Amino acid sequence: MSTDSSTEKQMDIPTKEVLISSSDINQRVQQLGREISEDYQGRELHLVGVLNGAFVFLADLVRQIDIPCQICFLQASSYKNQKVSTGEVTLMHNLDLSRKDVLVVEDIFDTGLTLKYIMEDLEQQKPKSLEACALLNKQIPDKVPIAVKYIGFNIEDRFVVGYGLDFAEHYREIPHIACLD
Ligand code: IMP
Repeated sequence: MSTDSSTEKQMDIPTKEVLISSSDINQRVQQLGREISEDYQGRELHLVGVLNGAFVFLADLVRQIDIPCQICFLQASSYKNQKVSTGEVTLMHNLDLSRKDVLVVEDIFDTGLTLKYIMEDLEQQKPKSLEACALLNKQIPDKVPIAVKYIGFNIEDRFVVGYGLDFAEHYREIPHIACLD
């Protein structure tokens, strides 16, 4: 049987440790959607997804929110194919969020550097409100002190992939969260 690299990748997936199953993710995303819908009742919510990692989470989350929403994206990069942050954050967007209720949707709140950068950048646009939601919160000692209003799961300090999260652009398509180390 031939084993090209994509076949190897598929065979490799089940051997990685499943940290959070897709059914647990679905359940938690439903709860977050309900909570967000209640908190923003009577308002229009502007969801800002942080590319690339948050695209799966945002797509699922928005379908669990039952108030009017607008969806947009910004691009942030800090890892450049490494497993540890380079410490440099680059942002790309042309958003106008002045006087809007804004919720930034991130895949993972690790050091918090990226989110701090994003929140400071968007704050300059004078939104009516600005909060953050992260699917995962990595529990590490030296986090940037920043309030993330909605958190899906607290996880230990391991490098994770799947459900949108990558390592060097691989594994985003895995439907659960798996540990790579
Ligand atoms: P932070 O600036 O250290 O909080 O890192 C934020 C970004 O780094 C996230 O939006 C992810 O794209 C990426 N990242 C951090 N930890 C992981 C991980 O365990 N797996 C995949 N990407 C990660």
